[in-house]
Amino acid sequence: MENIINSANLGIDSLVGNPKFYIETYGCQMNVSDSEVVVSILQRNGFQLTNSSKEADLILINTCSIRDNAEQRIRGRLNVFKQFKKKKPSLLVGVIGCMAERLKEKFLEEEKSVDLIAGPDSYRDLPKLVKSAGYGFQASNVLLSFEETYADISPVRFEENKVSAFISIMRGCNNMCAYCVVPYTRGSERSRDPESILNETREIFNSGFSEVTLLGQNVNSYSWKPDGGNQINFTKLIERVAKISPLLRVRFATSHPKDISDDLLHTIALYPNICKSIHLPVQSGSSRILKLMNRKYDREGYLERIEAIKKTIPECSISTDIITGFCTETEEDHKETLSLMNFVNYDFAYMFKYSERPGTYAERHLKDDIQEEIKGRRLTEIINLQNKLSLQSKQMDVGKTFEVLVEGTSKKSKDELFGRTTQNKVVVFPKGELKPGDYLNAEITGFTSATLKGKVV
Ligand code: 5AD
Ligand code: SF4
Repeated sequence: MENIINSANLGIDSLVGNPKFYIETYGCQMNVSDSEVVVSILQRNGFQLTNSSKEADLILINTCSIRDNAEQRIRGRLNVFKQFKKKKPSLLVGVIGCMAERLKEKFLEEEKSVDLIAGPDSYRDLPKLVKSAGYGFQASNVLLSFEETYADISPVRFEENKVSAFISIMRGCNNMCAYCVVPYTRGSERSRDPESILNETREIFNSGFSEVTLLGQNVNSYSWKPDGGNQINFTKLIERVAKISPLLRVRFATSHPKDISDDLLHTIALYPNICKSIHLPVQSGSSRILKLMNRKYDREGYLERIEAIKKTIPECSISTDIITGFCTETEEDHKETLSLMNFVNYDFAYMFKYSERPGTYAERHLKDDIQEEIKGRRLTEIINLQNKLSLQSKQMDVGKTFEVLVEGTSKKSKDELFGRTTQNKVVVFPKGELKPGDYLNAEITGFTSATLKGKVV
């Protein structure tokens, strides 16, 4: 741990008693799950969570570095909190997560209003870092770990309706996709003890939750070997989680196409409570680009996995991530992405323009040579196509009946609730006597661009 003295900061008084902290989370589901761990660690150490940034003694921002615009957004928030500090000089501001890890102490030099930084593997150190910051030191811990999984920490769930919870089953990533900063910000892959995963799942199910999402950067490479026992892979783990109760829905994210096995597909098909929804990022439809990206599969290999999903779990929804405008991408490569999207018929997709990230293989060895306007135009074509595919997918659901787990009140009307099908599609329906956590059968009567409309049957 390194401390940098910042005499301008004299926040110590506000940390006497039970200081209040506020946390803001950016980026992926893993960050949401990490923030729940952070809340648990701070609460154990006498800090009190507040929903109001204005009344906080400590503001934490859990950050994302995946694309440049994610980082710019966080810089914008820091400017807002800088103003807060003018009004309340004792306020401490901490930046945690991927951006802290990527920029390390340089970040503290660039952003003088930041009092502490902590990387994704140093959250246990936060109480100490806050204390140092309170004494006027800019504090940091950005050490990555080969072991840390926070297995013994019970996350404090944010979910108000107590329906759905994230459970982190592994951390880090060993894949080294050429464009991706994650292996640098989250370190190498490590799996969490299955017993702690099962215990946490049982606990939250018993406390009223009805759905868990098992989280990891690449869940298909989950692996644990107990002392003297047999190795447990992701298929075995998800089977054990599903067996906790047929009333517990189990989801997972994210799968890497190179590792998604037939065994896993058969297990998903076998257990009604394992949700029929697979997120399988393709990134590009061109084998040449996939090779440059170091994705370790080609177009044919990916489509073979899609065929396997469709054959083994015909009712399964499939979603994806796509990056457009990666280094050297030609119009031909782009057309291959569009044709692959048409072929797979994705239900949903996250779509991005390539953003060069410092330190990655692509930044060091390839040229970010696709002009911004071309990236923009290709992204628009990809989004337009996906909008068409998503509408078609919803149209196909009209007249069918799905089991829906109620999650909460619809944003548009307090007389309507919303929930999800096993395919992860949102359905809005009249409230009646239903409440969050209930299951119902809904017949789909129509749809909007964002949701399905249903009636209870
Ligand atoms: N530029 C654009 N998109 C990226 N992703 C990861 N790195 C980058 C990058 N440098 C996307 C990938 C990944 C998702 C989480 O973010 O599609 O699957
Ligand atoms: Fe990044 Fe690739 Fe790892 Fe996903 S699998 S986190 S894209 S390096």
